[in-house]
Amino acid sequence: MTVVLVTGAAGYIGSHTCVELLEAGYEVVGVDNYDNSSPEAITRVEELVGVRLAGMYDVDLRDRAALGRVFARHQIDAVMHFAGLKAVGESVELPMKYYDTNIGSTLGLIAEMEASGVRKMVFSSSCTVYGSPEPDQVPLTEYTPLQAVSPYGRTKLLLEEMLNDLCASNDGWSVMSLRYFNPIGAHGSGRIGEDPAGVPNNLLPYIMQVAVGRREKLSVFGDDYPTADGTCIRDYIHVVDLARGHLDALPLLETSGYGAINLGTGIGSSVLEVVEASSKAVGRPIPYEVKPRRVGDSIAVFADPAHALDALGWKAEFDLQQMCADQWRWQKMNPDGY
Ligand code: NAD
Ligand code: UFG
Repeated sequence: MTVVLVTGAAGYIGSHTCVELLEAGYEVVGVDNYDNSSPEAITRVEELVGVRLAGMYDVDLRDRAALGRVFARHQIDAVMHFAGLKAVGESVELPMKYYDTNIGSTLGLIAEMEASGVRKMVFSSSCTVYGSPEPDQVPLTEYTPLQAVSPYGRTKLLLEEMLNDLCASNDGWSVMSLRYFNPIGAHGSGRIGEDPAGVPNNLLPYIMQVAVGRREKLSVFGDDYPTADGTCIRDYIHVVDLARGHLDALPLLETSGYGAINLGTGIGSSVLEVVEASSKAVGRPIPYEVKPRRVGDSIAVFADPAHALDALGWKAEFDLQQMCADQWRWQKMNPDGY
């Protein structure tokens, strides 16, 4: 059996990936410092699948000694590295926190992997490595020039470059960076989902907190963009599709070297289309008000997912309506999160 170490296992994408891994028969070892998550997520993952993780450790990845003990205890075959901080706005205010956590964690992780002879990693990257694409650059392929526009984005870009250098320097290493577009939705059971702390920065969690009565109305940031309805376009992808993409990437780690693959649907949806799909899922209109543009927003960001199909045999299955329905089920069943 293949043993996969999942960092950030209790987080939004990590927890959904744990479900898919356990259901596919992998043995899973989880690590999380619960900085942005709850141990309850792991309890629910285990309840859902009816299988326990082989180990779940409350460890900060920057704590090399503690991480070393995890590697000493389990025969890890591959690592899925989700752990990190992800709030773009916060990264502008507290850049060193982001460099320390995202870069520091990964440096420690690589050192412990090397020390244990584990040289296979799937890395959580982001479409943020494409910066603010010009309208003629979408859909974004893996050949679109890379550029970071926030400290958060810079950590992802630096880490991709670092991992590429690592693979180039040692052909024992194999790393696949998966560049996620906008993950939304939740497991179909409604038992696990995204549980942001404080006021949500992202569109779907905000909409669902309005729907459940925690917030009054959505602010739509700008309706004067050069798009069909004037609002920004994104490539929303179901978190379960995303999780499955990670399992499809595992066999590629048998071949050494570095690669990067987009995980998106290839379909762009506007903010107002998402509001409409959410209203349909919830069964009543989501109240909203148009506000000025949010600083730093790109007009349109969506993937060319062709390489994922070629390289992984992966393509997204769930449509926007299903994503909204699943996110609503999670929110309705867990109005205050975990
Ligand atoms: P999340 O915050 O829900 O999960 C990240 C997990 O990592 C959390 O459980 C957190 O407690 C843990 N963590 C943070 N710092 C840690 C540390 N030093 N040691 C151990 N654990 C630590 O976020 P997510 O949405 O599940 O994102 C997972 C990964 O995917 C992140 O690397 C993120 O940057 C990347 N990503 C996310 C999105 C998105 O929109 N959700 C988009 C693109 C890329
Ligand atoms: N939006 C609103 N109101 C809100 C929240 C968002 O109108 O309350 C709009 C935004 O202006 C944007 C769209 O909804 O047009 C999507 O915004 P999100 O914040 O949900 O997602 P982003 O595309 O801005 O950000 C995502 C990830 C980041 C990543 C970035 C890279 O959350 O981690 O993509 O492009 F860095």
